[in-house]
Amino acid sequence: MHVTSAEFVKSATKPANYPPEEFPEVAFAGRSNVGKSSLINVLVNRKGLVRTSSTPGRTQLLNFFLVNGGLMLVDLPGYGFAKVPLAVKKQWGPMMETYLASRRTLGCVVLILDIRRVPTEEDCQMLQWLRAYDIPTLVVVTKCDKVSKNERAKQAAVIARETGLPRDEMLFFSALSREGKDAVWGRIGELLAA
Ligand code: GTP
Ligand code: MG
Repeated sequence: MHVTSAEFVKSATKPANYPPEEFPEVAFAGRSNVGKSSLINVLVNRKGLVRTSSTPGRTQLLNFFLVNGGLMLVDLPGYGFAKVPLAVKKQWGPMMETYLASRRTLGCVVLILDIRRVPTEEDCQMLQWLRAYDIPTLVVVTKCDKVSKNERAKQAAVIARETGLPRDEMLFFSALSREGKDAVWGRIGELLAA
């Protein structure tokens, strides 16, 4: 995908505030601090389009970005961070479920996992949710620059075991080296075309 423009459209928590259902949409999900916003920035070649932070729990809204005037990317708020206020935590489930269940233009969800971590209960729940709503899903394993090739293979096996995903359904990525960028775009294109 050759990105010529990428712009922030708006933030929302509820359907009344989502942008109109005009364009095919791809949403990015994963635990807090896993690297969702960094992945989007790499995909659109824009370092600062989406705010990234070493403080987990920074993105607490659905943030909509329009790419090339015809594809919507949505940065979803992360889950699993203990320190966000309880009120925010309680909002998260209904906010996500409403979005996943109601967004008619949603073409696929990219679920992002950290190569160094064992997938959590919440990661597995999110995968089940996506399956239950019949939403095409792409699993991207990120921060691959942080581990050796050996460690990568070992961790991929752990992730496959914990999630039940076949090994070849995961794509490896690094926001630092940009490894995997073309593969992620390619797979998104396939899922949207299916
Ligand atoms: P929340 O919005 O808080 O849920 O986080 P997020 O999932 O959007 O993560 P974000 O992209 O803000 O990245 C979190 C931290 O991880 C930042 O310090 C990033 O620089 C770092 N990071 C993200 N991706 C990578 C990667 O591929 N490699 C390395 N080394 N660091 C990364
Ligand atoms: Mg973020």
